[in-house]
Amino acid sequence: MKFANIIVTFLAASASTVRAEEHQNLGWGVLGVRLPEPLSDLSATLDPATNLIYIAGGCDSPNGNEFAGEYFVCATISDDLYVFNPQDWSFGPRETLPRQRYRHCAEIVNNQLWLLGGRDADDALITEVDVYDIAEKSWSVFTLPDDYLTSDQACFTDKSSSFLYVAGGYNATYGTRDATFRIDTSTASANLVVEEMAPLIEARGDVFAASDGEFAYLGGGFTDANGFCAPLETAEKYEFATNTWTNLPPLINERGEIVMVEANGDVFALGGERQIQDICDVTGNTDPGELTVGTEVVEVLTDSGWKVIESFDDHKFRFAAVNVDGLIYAFGGQDAWDDGCQCFKTTDEIHLLGDGVTSSPTVAPADGGLSGPTFSLWAVSAVLGVVAAMVF
Ligand SMILES: *[C@@H]1O[C@H](CO)[C@@H](O)[C@H](O)[C@H]1NC(C)=O
Repeated sequence: MKFANIIVTFLAASASTVRAEEHQNLGWGVLGVRLPEPLSDLSATLDPATNLIYIAGGCDSPNGNEFAGEYFVCATISDDLYVFNPQDWSFGPRETLPRQRYRHCAEIVNNQLWLLGGRDADDALITEVDVYDIAEKSWSVFTLPDDYLTSDQACFTDKSSSFLYVAGGYNATYGTRDATFRIDTSTASANLVVEEMAPLIEARGDVFAASDGEFAYLGGGFTDANGFCAPLETAEKYEFATNTWTNLPPLINERGEIVMVEANGDVFALGGERQIQDICDVTGNTDPGELTVGTEVVEVLTDSGWKVIESFDDHKFRFAAVNVDGLIYAFGGQDAWDDGCQCFKTTDEIHLLGDGVTSSPTVAPADGGLSGPTFSLWAVSAVLGVVAAMVF
């Protein structure tokens, strides 16, 4: 009963949202088109040259994270690469990654999709860095020095140089890292050369970063420093020009796995998960569903700190999101605890967040939905009509 009260309190607090002045019309929609399969802990990366989104890896078990006595495990990991076109909401032909991978990070630099870090189905860190040449549609495999193997770390770029930056994450035994390093992708060879940069102010794993080209932003996450008993509320930003991290105002809703997205000059902190308050002080049996809860909160960074501006219509975490011209696409993730399967199920939903997007209706596919086993291509004119109706 105690837990039920805590959950209710937490949800009530997060539901009382105050919209920032500048985003009065922000809202959610759920696309009528879905991912080709339910996925969480995936990466989604926008190629600025083509405006296509590359969706790689992830947990592809429909039962997502299942409780295994002490912790949660995902039974099957994806080696799929999907290309999503936000112009017509179609998925291009599927390609295969060199290996299964989840809880990695991804960036497009040098016209190449870089997949770095993460874990395999045995929870082992992945040493190979897989690099997809977008023009050639071919993979190269590089290796990271052992000291830089991580999962649940943040990747980011300055959007103009050939450097790929990596910060935070966990080592093989879930020690939390504060290291920041970068790789010059234009001179990469089989054994990658790593350059150490200024470390994070606070070691943290389960982090994502957003970049506006001048600064990268990240926040929240989890740490072994408190025994993973509570999420971090601190946030920080990295200045590329000076190689320095500085503190941002603390988050309003501290949590891990916050998806950070920069859109039209604003930094959004989406979703995430946290433990029930004071989880480590609780004695006796704890229901697995109370060990972690997804949150539905969206915060935006303003001159006077973070502001809660919107909520998903449901909890959602372990998803990936990108900004395309001011609209944020959020792919997959996991839903709230399901008692029946004792699991957090993966979802194939794609959410859309943006000013003027209506929050409640599901946008139906123009023509009966997915046509093939894996892919669909809608009539472009019909889809663009739907987008226009949602946005204006
Ligand atoms: C991971 O990090 C922890 C804490 O810093 C450390 O004690 C441990 O030895 C590290 N494990 C590995 C495999 O590097």
